[in-house]
Amino acid sequence: MNLIFIGDVVGSGGRKAVKKLLPELKREFSAQVAVVNAENSAAGNGLTGKCLAEMSPEADVFTAGDHVWDQKGFEFEIDRIPNVLRPANLHHVQPGRSWAIFRNPGGGDYAVIALMGKVFMRDSAYCPFETADRLVEEIAPKTPNIFIDFHAEATSEKLAMSYFLDGRVTAVVGTHTHVQTSDAEVLPGGTAHLTDLGMAGAARSVLGRKVEDVLTKFTTGMPCRLAVAEDGPIRVCGAVITYDYRSGRATKIVPIDRMVEL
Ligand SMILES: [Fe+2]
Ligand SMILES: [Fe+2]
Repeated sequence: MNLIFIGDVVGSGGRKAVKKLLPELKREFSAQVAVVNAENSAAGNGLTGKCLAEMSPEADVFTAGDHVWDQKGFEFEIDRIPNVLRPANLHHVQPGRSWAIFRNPGGGDYAVIALMGKVFMRDSAYCPFETADRLVEEIAPKTPNIFIDFHAEATSEKLAMSYFLDGRVTAVVGTHTHVQTSDAEVLPGGTAHLTDLGMAGAARSVLGRKVEDVLTKFTTGMPCRLAVAEDGPIRVCGAVITYDYRSGRATKIVPIDRMVEL
C-alpha cells in the first residue's frame, strides 16, 4: 500500500497546486490516499472549512499544527469536519479530534495522529512523547497502520520521536519548518521517517512568504507583515510511504519535490 503525505500547504497557490498535483501523484505512485498538512492553507495562517473543501476529495485527510486556531471561527467549524486533525497534545478542552481511523480503498484501515513538538515552539503543548505513547497503545489494537504528523521545530525532537515509536507505527513524518530534509529512511523496526516533508508554497519565497517582506523584517528588525508569495511556480514537497497493511510496517519512503505551474 502507498500513502502520500504532503507538508504545510501555504495560501491559495499551495491549495491549487496540491489539488492539481495529487491525482497525478496518486497515479504515479499507485497511492490510494493522501494526507495533507493544511495549517497554513488559509492566507498563510490557519485553516477554514472552505479551504479544505477546495483540496477535497484529492486530499483525504488534513492535519494542523501550531496555527490551528489562527482563523477566527475555525474552533466552531472543526467538529463538523471529520477528516481534519489538530495536534493531540494541546489542552483537552480544545475542540476537534486529534486522531482518527480511515478506510483505505486499496485495503485495510489506517490511523492518522497529529502531534506537536515542545522545543522552540511558541505555544505550550503537553509532552508529545507521553501523548504519542498513550495514543499508539490505544490505536494499535484497532489498526497496525498508524501515521504520525509530528509538527515540530527541532530536528532532534523529530528524529527522537521516530526512534521512540520505531516498530510501533508505520511512519513519523515532520512538518512545520517548510524546508524538506534529506534523511528519508525506514528505521530498523520498520517505521518510515522524514524529519520534515517541506511545504506546498511558492518556489520563489522564504517559507512561502514574500522574499522582500522577510528581508525587510530581518534587515530592519522592525515588525513587518509577511505576505504570502503567490507568483511563479509552486513547489510541492512531501513523501510517499510504502507499507504492508497487514503488519503496519513500512518498507520504503520516497521524498516528493515537484514544481507546479498554475
Ligand atoms: Fe507551517
Ligand atoms: Fe507550524
